[in-house]
Amino acid sequence: MVATANFKPTSVSDLVQEGPTDFRVHSDVYTDQAIFEQEIHQIFENGWVYVAHDSEIANPGDYVTRRIGTKPVIVTRGREEQINVLLNVCRHRANAICREQQGNTLSFRCPYHSWTYANTGELLGVADRTRYPKGFGSDLDLLKAAKVGSYQGLIFASLNGNVPDLDDHLAGIKHQIDYWADRSLEGCNTLLLPHRYGYSGNWKFQAENGVDGYHASFVHESAFDSFATGGVSRYLNRPSIKSDGTTRGFPGGHSTLEGGYVEGRGSARSLADMFEDYMSKLTDRHGEDRAHEVVSARHLFIFPNVYLFDDLVRIVQPISLEETEIYSHPFRLGGVPEEFNARRLYEVTRQLSTTGMVNPADLEMFAANQTGLHADMDWLELCRGIEMEEVSPSGERVGQHSDETPQRAFYRAWQQVMSQTSFENC
Ligand code: FES
Ligand SMILES: [Fe+2]
Repeated sequence: MVATANFKPTSVSDLVQEGPTDFRVHSDVYTDQAIFEQEIHQIFENGWVYVAHDSEIANPGDYVTRRIGTKPVIVTRGREEQINVLLNVCRHRANAICREQQGNTLSFRCPYHSWTYANTGELLGVADRTRYPKGFGSDLDLLKAAKVGSYQGLIFASLNGNVPDLDDHLAGIKHQIDYWADRSLEGCNTLLLPHRYGYSGNWKFQAENGVDGYHASFVHESAFDSFATGGVSRYLNRPSIKSDGTTRGFPGGHSTLEGGYVEGRGSARSLADMFEDYMSKLTDRHGEDRAHEVVSARHLFIFPNVYLFDDLVRIVQPISLEETEIYSHPFRLGGVPEEFNARRLYEVTRQLSTTGMVNPADLEMFAANQTGLHADMDWLELCRGIEMEEVSPSGERVGQHSDETPQRAFYRAWQQVMSQTSFENC
């Protein structure tokens, strides 16, 4: 058989096809430059994207640099505590005014000709203003995100002034975010500096993968074998595919991969003797049932660009059609002994960083996916479990741990947002 790409999509809505027993995504979604540019505009710039966490800019003057789509932004905490999301571009001749990843300042001075801006975006000073016309600069404050909102310390922004409320965007998953936030015994989770790395592949491979329960035993086999020979019991005699646990897909493209509660350790792996005390305090705060939910193993994907893992927050940052950056933040829980957080950090280092034993194999898969796509095959199959998933009246779908329920939720939202044509307001 000669393999040829014989389907030529005529519109973006042709790129995702769903039937009762079928769910397919066309390879153009990963390889077409025009599709990528449309994603950046309609999904990232016109929708809500996660930009930072409250704990990263806890004090007036704190800032971090991020992107909305491919546009560089500075997320700042103003003198009055308000959050500002500023486009990182000087209004004079477009220099990036901030080159650091994070810091603290109440003003930014452009390196090129020294124009200065408050960390709220106001233009404070123009070097040698006498050579400019009177009144010049009154309309040259830094550009800003049109909307900024937050929930449980997670800060989201949109460049679209007409974007629906953040509450609408998060409506189906606020309770899932609450589980993540409630892991702290006091205050909120505190994000550490992100570990930054990248891969040569489309951003959606990472967006799909963190809630993919199908791949782990295969892609991570050598890591799991290594853990097992080291006596880590959860990796001994493991099945090739985990059959307990759950996947969920929510309207809006959000999803979860849930491993459930394991008696005596929740999702924690290296807390050992410290877990009992933590669990008893968590039970005092929330009751036993909710405490079990809170510490259950759970990966929550918030469409389109952030994961809340048990011990990590991960931002998926598109750079170009075939280049993606990842920012992985370990985080501290509030109100627990420092040793407890240190053991959690150790676990993240061992497993999930690029120098750990699990995540590098995923990155290799993403690059190999992109290589395979150059063979010009038409369709990628995402129908695993489609006939068996349950659908609630709210539109939430529940599947088994290795089902492609999360990926289908992602592409339903992707297709809906990408098919919208009324995007003149950004
Ligand atoms: S480009 Fe910023 S001051 Fe000239
Ligand atoms: Fe993986």
